[in-house]
Amino acid sequence: MRFSTGTFLPLTLVGLAQAAHHQVTVGKGGLKFVPEVVKAQKHDTITYTFFAKNHSVAQSSFDKPCQPLDGAIFSGFVPNDSQDVASRTTFTMTVEDDKPIWLYCSQPNGDHCQKGMVHAINPPETGNTIEAYKEKAKDAPKSTSPQGGLPKIGRREIAVDVGKDGLKFVPSDIKEPVGTFVKFNFSPKNHSVVQSTFDKPCQFQEHGFSSGHIPTKEGTVSPATFNIEIKDNKPIWFYCAQPTGNHCQSGMVGSINAPTEGNTLAAFIEKAKTAPTPSTIETSAPLGGIILVNGKEVKTFNGNELPVEFREGGGQSTTPSATATHSLPPASSQTLPAWGSPDVPDYFANKTGGHNKPKHWNWADKLSPSASAFLQLHLQIENLITHLLWEAYLKLEDGDWKGVYPQTITASIGAWAAQSILHSATTSTIGALIDISAQIAKEDPFLVPVVMTQVGAKSRAAGVVNMMRNHLAGVAPREIGVPVGLAWSFVLGKYVESCPEEVKVEGLEGNKAWPGVKVAKVETGEDGLAVRAEVEYEGSGEHWVAWIGPWGELEYSKVEEGKKVGVPKGWTGDVFVVVVDREGVGLGEIGKHVVAGPEQVWL
Ligand SMILES: *[C@@H]1O[C@H](CO)[C@@H](O)[C@H](O)[C@H]1NC(C)=O
Ligand SMILES: *[C@@H]1O[C@H](CO)[C@@H](O)[C@H](O)[C@H]1NC(C)=O
Ligand SMILES: *[C@@H]1O[C@H](CO)[C@@H](O)[C@H](O)[C@H]1NC(C)=O
Ligand SMILES: *[C@@H]1O[C@H](CO)[C@@H](O)[C@H](O)[C@H]1NC(C)=O
Repeated sequence: MRFSTGTFLPLTLVGLAQAAHHQVTVGKGGLKFVPEVVKAQKHDTITYTFFAKNHSVAQSSFDKPCQPLDGAIFSGFVPNDSQDVASRTTFTMTVEDDKPIWLYCSQPNGDHCQKGMVHAINPPETGNTIEAYKEKAKDAPKSTSPQGGLPKIGRREIAVDVGKDGLKFVPSDIKEPVGTFVKFNFSPKNHSVVQSTFDKPCQFQEHGFSSGHIPTKEGTVSPATFNIEIKDNKPIWFYCAQPTGNHCQSGMVGSINAPTEGNTLAAFIEKAKTAPTPSTIETSAPLGGIILVNGKEVKTFNGNELPVEFREGGGQSTTPSATATHSLPPASSQTLPAWGSPDVPDYFANKTGGHNKPKHWNWADKLSPSASAFLQLHLQIENLITHLLWEAYLKLEDGDWKGVYPQTITASIGAWAAQSILHSATTSTIGALIDISAQIAKEDPFLVPVVMTQVGAKSRAAGVVNMMRNHLAGVAPREIGVPVGLAWSFVLGKYVESCPEEVKVEGLEGNKAWPGVKVAKVETGEDGLAVRAEVEYEGSGEHWVAWIGPWGELEYSKVEEGKKVGVPKGWTGDVFVVVVDREGVGLGEIGKHVVAGPEQVWL
């Protein structure tokens, strides 16, 4: 069988070539954007979350900070009095090219911009730098916002919980500017969002919106969201139309931009109490809005039950069937076995420190539903990729598709499959991706951008690890489970020049890192593995070196004459070391006993 390239590689690869998604906090911990600078590529998205006071994201030119460019990016103001809970309103934009974008908070009360609340995407590193922009902002005239004050260019969105804590919408009294999208997230059991007039609560308003009923499994949030756009300043009234239990009459109603006097939300709730039962809803949905399930739009359904392929964890119908040649769990597996359970396949367990959970760390005994959903999605994607590559390789090498692609491509896909299997526990395929793109460049150059986008995404994660390893290229970059105090001290000692705020970390005084430690003169045994080393640090007394491995392994060895220590038998790879004044304490307590360190060494 021959098939066009369109049926295999582009489909799977394009689906995988996800742009990066960046997060920026606005006003968290003071008048600032964090991070202040984002390096983004074309198609990357950036989401801004808003904290304390009343901030905005507005675009200026480099030359005129604190003044809006014509028709430029603007989030609108997002008032929020919380220092540490992000507002439900976010602003997300997509980067269109690699030109610098200069942004500022346009709040004139308190001169946020002039006080340094500025931000840039892809600023140059010399010349017009972020520092130069900030310096200019100091002397800028009073800030202004774009005319009209409505969100522009990006997507301003507010997330509303439906039925999360009882029969209500949270928030129910929504105040948002025109152009904002309202995203409704559904909790159990079986709710809807339907528009009514003020005068007739619990009755569908002709030409209004309706999500239809979205039944949701206990303990989960539905993967389906209902999204509407606020198109004018008129008040909008809505309710849950579930007739069983009379949700609307019991107060499950809400409003957008309701007046603060006269026809208020409180008056609407009062009216709903005596509305006729049952509440009404159209027999077709969605109306006046969009239902999305994992990014896919549900065009239409009967208003009572989502089509089967869109229900809990739906949309899996494209999963290829597994052949008998391998024994990975099916890509459609819906549950992750608890960590440490015998149900974790040996294959995965062996790559993640065995069937036991790491001994020295206090793991929670359960996962939150959202963490579990994330991990399941992650696992599904990994499994899907692995299945596709594995089967494609077998077919291309010696099956139905033999001879369809040049041998270099077939070999690359084989290498990729092997890497995918090998790294399915760590998601690190950078080496294979680079090899593959070099080979593909010769014969199928159109695929290079797709593959390199993946490299970009993976490199960003690996880059952090490499940075921590003093800029050495990590052979197998891995995150190590060090306690937060140790990690904080490590970063503080190595990369931070000054820190305006005190961060409270147990065992650490203020913003002072612990004294450093160096691991030198590593002797290796006959098998090439490290056996002894010397540690250099200030101080003397009875000390131990704690060795911390990637999966929470923890071993101690005594510091002997000449500050020599034995390396635990068989340890290889990235390891954290820290000098402590006690032997045998668990990882959670280790911060209280640090003498020097931590340092990362490659054994
Ligand atoms: C937020 O700030 C803007 C600009 O100063 C102002 O117009 C708006 O009323 C403020 N909103 C709140 C709720 O304080
Ligand atoms: C700030 O955001 C949090 C989280 O959404 C919310 O609970 C709080 O009411 C907001 N404050 C204001 C003034 O909007
Ligand atoms: C959800 O509610 C609607 C309306 O009461 C009902 O027709 C539908 O069967 C319900 N679905 C489930 C799964 O309970
Ligand atoms: C996992 O490790 C155990 C113990 O080293 C070994 O006996 C077993 O064959 C391994 N299984 C797999 C699937 O790698």
